[in-house]
Amino acid sequence: MVYTRSNQRSLTKAQKRRFVDAVLTLKRKGRYDEFVRTHIEFYQGDGDSGLRVAHMAPSFFPWHRKFLLEFEQALQQVDPAVSVPYWDWTVDRTPAASLWGEDFLGGDGQGSDRKVTTGPFARRNGTWIVKETVTDGDYLMRELGRPRAPIDLPSKAELADALDEPVYDAEPWNSLASAGLRNKLEGWPVRRGDPTWSNHNRVHRWVGGQMLGGGSVNDPVFWLHHAFVDLCWTRWSRSHPKAAAYLPAEQPALGRPGRGRVIAAGQRMPPWNTPVRDMLGPMPYRYE
Ligand code: CU
Ligand code: CU
Repeated sequence: MVYTRSNQRSLTKAQKRRFVDAVLTLKRKGRYDEFVRTHIEFYQGDGDSGLRVAHMAPSFFPWHRKFLLEFEQALQQVDPAVSVPYWDWTVDRTPAASLWGEDFLGGDGQGSDRKVTTGPFARRNGTWIVKETVTDGDYLMRELGRPRAPIDLPSKAELADALDEPVYDAEPWNSLASAGLRNKLEGWPVRRGDPTWSNHNRVHRWVGGQMLGGGSVNDPVFWLHHAFVDLCWTRWSRSHPKAAAYLPAEQPALGRPGRGRVIAAGQRMPPWNTPVRDMLGPMPYRYE
């Protein structure tokens, strides 16, 4: 049966509550922190040696799709009616958005330590203690809009610029690829300071706190952000049916960039041993 992933802005109060409750249950059981650990483990970049699967790599989209599915299945074991909502950051662009409400993800960080003090993930409730982390502090931090040096969330035009790309990904298959949907949407600017090239990454920076690094899963907004990224990939695949094929189709040839470092279409992704192809066909969810 196909289930629905909804825009977070259209969730009812009861739906928000059930999502939050399921997340808190996974946290209490220690299951949530397993997801945090997996993401930290797969936070490799161009500069690291070995295989790049999750970031700065062609399999950025299918890896996060599988990661979200695993998380969603865990949520649904707690409450079968729950799915991961998505956050369209081209529309809900301010700290005043209902996303950051007391009844949903809670608000901005406060004071010099940027500690989140409102909502279900505030430290004082004792239900959201950050354990698996690459930064200091056992509490959730946010710095919405980065007031020290303000930045905006990506605009519709900036997202459209990525979605106009005719190919999926391109040599050298990393953060330096100057063409392709993947790097433009993942958001590593090829030219320093180019604002049109920082879609997904700039959202992490706009939220700040744990969202800045490998421990970003510690902020539950991670899932809503990546559900929207997944929706963008879905839209792109539909609007480019001929070009939608995952690239590289084969492992790069001997001597070509990325050889042995990236996942080709026929290969499997750790840690689940899932073929990339399994993430390209029909999914058990649809977006509304
Ligand atoms: Cu990630
Ligand atoms: Cu991300």
